[in-house]
Amino acid sequence: MKPLLVALQDTAQLSGPLARALGADIAEIDLRRFPDGETYLRFDTPPDDRDLILLAGLADPDAKLPTLVFAGQTARTLGAKSVGLVAPYLPYMRQDRVFRPGEAVTSVHFAKWISSCVDWLVTIDPHLHRWKALSDIYSIPSVAAHAAPAMAEWIKNHVDRPLLIGPDAESEQWVSDIAVRAGGVDHIVLAKTRHGDRDVDIALPDMERWRHHTPVIVDDTISTASTMIAVTGQLVDQGLRPPICCAVHGIFADGAHQALLEAGTVRIVTSNTISHPSNAIDVSGILADATSSLLKQTGLSRT
Ligand code: R5P
Repeated sequence: MKPLLVALQDTAQLSGPLARALGADIAEIDLRRFPDGETYLRFDTPPDDRDLILLAGLADPDAKLPTLVFAGQTARTLGAKSVGLVAPYLPYMRQDRVFRPGEAVTSVHFAKWISSCVDWLVTIDPHLHRWKALSDIYSIPSVAAHAAPAMAEWIKNHVDRPLLIGPDAESEQWVSDIAVRAGGVDHIVLAKTRHGDRDVDIALPDMERWRHHTPVIVDDTISTASTMIAVTGQLVDQGLRPPICCAVHGIFADGAHQALLEAGTVRIVTSNTISHPSNAIDVSGILADATSSLLKQTGLSRT
């Protein structure tokens, strides 16, 4: 029997392409809120004895997690053969250690929770910094696919003389890979000091030699956009061309998108892991390939 894909919140941009690529049926579900705000969920398509793929948009995770947990538990109760999670954006990866005594290391707690709810996990470019692999904290089979091939393709096709700029040490992993894939274009990596959620300092060297390039700031995530705004401001101050900002996950908290435009960027481009008007990079094929190879490895797929 074909796998069954359950499209939970904020996944309309990916559910059709993913189901087609995986040869999966899309489940009919009744998902709504009771007047008191609690969740009602019913599977109209029975999941019994089928491999179930929960596709979940998990930006703003605290509002969405109950639905994911209820869907996973209900599918198991109804006899699904297996229940996996495709989370194009994986939240709760940034608190990866105790910065101040008494803090919750939420990446660990979240990973334990998800590992108990589903049998496997596929995501794209999770924020792996102090954790080097998902298996450091997730106890289920998990794959971190990369948007780099799709991002490199977009840059190759749309940007004249790009200079890729990674805003901090963590971004080296994405920027250097994308630079190679985009045809060996130039890239630099900056140093960032974060003082608070919206307070970052970035050290930009003398950029004179890049005057005739198009700066492309590349990062995994735009959240408050403080990072991109800080880099953009300094590029503008040095009289370089207005930069393009390019990220895998566009969260855009509280007016961040507008603030970044006002800072002087010429274009903001994101992948469709999170649905947003800035989406220009399609990662559905990358997600489908990662999902189908994980299903084959774990022996869950009959396709
Ligand atoms: C963190 O180190 C990440 O790689 C990003 O640089 C960060 O998430 C961006 O956050 P914000 O947009 O709030 O500066």
